[in-house]
Amino acid sequence: MRIGIPTEVKDHEYRVSVTPAGARALTDAGHEVLVQAGAGLGSGLPGDAYVAAGARIVPDAADAWGADLVCKIKEPVESEYRRLRRDLVLFTYLHLAANRPCTEALLAAGTTSIGYETVQLADGSLPLLVPMSEVAGRLATQAGAHHLLKNEGGRGVLLGGVPGARPGQVVVLGAGTAGRHATEMAVGMHAEVTVLDVSLPRLRELDARYGGRVRTLASTAHAVQAAAHPSWWTTARSSGCGPGRCSSTSRSTRVAASRTPGLRRTATRRSRCTARCSTASPTCPVPCR
Ligand SMILES: NC(=O)c1ccc[n+]([C@@H]2O[C@H](COP(=O)([O-])OP(=O)(O)OC[C@H]3O[C@@H](n4cnc5c(N)ncnc54)[C@H](O)[C@@H]3O)[C@@H](O)[C@H]2O)c1
Repeated sequence: MRIGIPTEVKDHEYRVSVTPAGARALTDAGHEVLVQAGAGLGSGLPGDAYVAAGARIVPDAADAWGADLVCKIKEPVESEYRRLRRDLVLFTYLHLAANRPCTEALLAAGTTSIGYETVQLADGSLPLLVPMSEVAGRLATQAGAHHLLKNEGGRGVLLGGVPGARPGQVVVLGAGTAGRHATEMAVGMHAEVTVLDVSLPRLRELDARYGGRVRTLASTAHAVQAAAHPSWWTTARSSGCGPGRCSSTSRSTRVAASRTPGLRRTATRRSRCTARCSTASPTCPVPCR
């Protein structure tokens, strides 16, 4: 089979779908791998590495898209719709529920499309979504720590503290894949960590894993407010999104908040922050700017 690896063209997308090691595995299995020139550069993977792995560098996107199977990272963007065709198999993240134009383009072209997010194992798990949640969870803590720095507009809080001073506090809403990885990072940074979930078995797992080092709480509106007050979901009523406070959230966190009885109304409200945060964080769900 001819497998094409085009350069991602979506705004701020720097990843490449197949690494040189992956290309080697495919060529060893008898496939021809066509990598668009520069496809790996955003990830620090030069064309030479692909050539050494048995792949062929092709100059244009059209050459990579001309393969039988195209592997990508993100769904095709508008400029790529013209490359879709009936005898193409497209393997990539699609998330079509949120993207009608792309869905219609794929249907019109008759392309056989397999969304990574729909690949399921016999036990119902989603193996190609898990790494994304792992990244999101780990990054959430890292981003939060960054935005707590004074020169980033934060309160000048060092999450790990220092001997003689109290560490920063981290509240993790949801102990699923993303939450567990956010917790792992926060514990590693020596922060004071509280994790809330509606699932007691998940909290038990965490409790056993960290031996009491992490505080676990059953997720209710009151528990969330007590753990994180003042926090962003109360900003509609108070000025919780205070100067320098940082809420680093993934969509899952907001979804979890919106599903918690009592938090739904404020979590989904997109009111403006009345506290005038000094943090211009793009992740703040209640922007004051
Ligand atoms: N922003 C990103 O880059 C990114 C990346 C990966 C996943 N996600 C999104 O995150 C979500 C899934 O994340 P995951 O892989 O960690 O899921 P998961 O199913 O492993 O974990 C979700 C956890 O939230 C808990 N939960 C549900 N309702 C809750 C509530 N009211 N209070 C507290 N906890 C609650 C669940 O019990 C579960 O433990 C998906 O919606 C996915 O699309 C976002």
